[in-house]
Amino acid sequence: MLVNKKTLFQAFAILASALSAKAQEASAPDDSAVVKLTSETFEDFIKENPVVLAEFFAPWCGHCKTLAPHYVEAAAALESEDIALAQIDCTVEQDLCMKQGIRGYPSLKLFKNHDLENPKDYAGGRTANAIITYMKKQILPTVQVVDSQKDLEAILTKATQPVIFSNGDAALNETFFSIADKFSEEYTFVSFPGSKVKLAVQLPSEAEAIEYNGDITEVEKNPEILESWLKVEALPYFGEITGESFGSYVESDVPLAYFFYTDDDEFEEYTEFFTDLAKEHRGKINFVGLDSRKFGKHAENLNMDEQFPLFAIHNMSSNLKYGLPQLAKEEFEKLTEAVKLETKDISKLVNEFLSGKSEAIIKSEEVPEVQESNVIKIVGKSHDGIAYDEEKDVLVKYYAPWCGHCKRLAPIYEELADILASDEDSKDKFVIAEVDSTLNDIQDVEIEGFPTIVLYPAGKNTEPVVFSSQRELTNFITFLEENAGNKVDFQIIHDSYKSALEAQKVADDLDEVEEDEDFEHDEL
Ligand SMILES: *[C@@H]1O[C@H](CO)[C@@H](O)[C@H](O)[C@H]1NC(C)=O
Ligand SMILES: *[C@@H]1O[C@H](CO)[C@@H](O)[C@H](O)[C@H]1NC(C)=O
Repeated sequence: MLVNKKTLFQAFAILASALSAKAQEASAPDDSAVVKLTSETFEDFIKENPVVLAEFFAPWCGHCKTLAPHYVEAAAALESEDIALAQIDCTVEQDLCMKQGIRGYPSLKLFKNHDLENPKDYAGGRTANAIITYMKKQILPTVQVVDSQKDLEAILTKATQPVIFSNGDAALNETFFSIADKFSEEYTFVSFPGSKVKLAVQLPSEAEAIEYNGDITEVEKNPEILESWLKVEALPYFGEITGESFGSYVESDVPLAYFFYTDDDEFEEYTEFFTDLAKEHRGKINFVGLDSRKFGKHAENLNMDEQFPLFAIHNMSSNLKYGLPQLAKEEFEKLTEAVKLETKDISKLVNEFLSGKSEAIIKSEEVPEVQESNVIKIVGKSHDGIAYDEEKDVLVKYYAPWCGHCKRLAPIYEELADILASDEDSKDKFVIAEVDSTLNDIQDVEIEGFPTIVLYPAGKNTEPVVFSSQRELTNFITFLEENAGNKVDFQIIHDSYKSALEAQKVADDLDEVEEDEDFEHDEL
């Protein structure tokens, strides 16, 4: 999102600089309201001013020159609002600019509440008006304080995003304000000191607010409780999932149940049922509708066929998937109209899932009958049996066929496997293996990116070690030396592998020479 905006601004700035007839100075005139900062004055200035927009620039930079008159005009307009606009010349203040991680000019950063460590990238436009509008928003309170029920209700009825309100309880107040700072873009925060309700969230689509019914003093001790509560309660009971809302469902750390619907009428028809179900199981499972016409492919990620409507549950913590039974492919193709999902079947699956009685759908390729290389191919069904072998050190690469890093790693990984297989002793002690993670579900392995490479050490396979160095042969060997349960002399194995390879090469070359000689003979 931000990247797109930035590109837009850059395009706009180039356009603007092409249009501007005469070149300006990038540096604001000394008599303007723009404050020039240096390494010596920077920190104190941030500490003294609650809202500072800092422009890191270079005098030769064209976009900086274009920005200059707008920046000067905005600085003059904002001076009386206690909003400061500053400039730092990076050709002079190199240390400061390096410390701020400046990589391009101009870089605009917003420092709020005297916080030197967490500036935000400026995300407004580059005209005087755009800067003024954006900066004025920064000083609006993140918490609106009201003093009557009527004012509170006025905010609630107008709200288009979840409203979090509290009664300003002393135990809660500090946490409430700091959470408001953090989530001011997503939610509206209101404090009503006279309210009987200590803490609640009101969803825009709902009549009743949801009260926090935990212990407020616990929140004071551990502010994260409030954050987790909010991440669950501020989600709609039964919302539509899209690219934008997906993140907040993942953040909530709660299993996600999907209803893939085929058209809007069907969505309407099930809305009440799912809303009730969601209220009943709030905090334990979230329910969403997904438009199968747009996102039907997502069914694959849930190990389901693209037969709609469908209902499936994804426990994202364990990466296990559950779903209502589907038809065999041929049977589905013979259908003349869509099968209706029975609400009682959905409720039953949800209850079984929550009580741990339902069976997950595990995706797996067939176990290969023969292994074609020294890199052992593991599939969903064979993973645990191979990886958790007490006797052996098992290195597993979890990859995806489309991943570029995986492709680059392949020959190195292959060589590692060849080296270890070349020695009678290490051959029995080490397994170098791989799993295509797009075709096989593996439990209890956290895959954060592809490839993820994990060692299950002999004798300690319940304590897997993740390989995290540069993916080079020597690093893999060092990693095994340090972490493997079996001890072998990698140096000797590697050396004899190399000399065998060398000998092989000489032999091959000789073969070739002979062949060439034969060839020449024929010619004669
Ligand atoms: C709550 O905290 C905010 C910010 O720290 C402060 O401005 C406000 O006066 C406090 N309110 C109460 C009721 O203590
Ligand atoms: C979801 O997975 C987590 C992690 O494995 C597990 O602790 C939790 O019990 C699972 N939830 C359900 C409802 O099965």
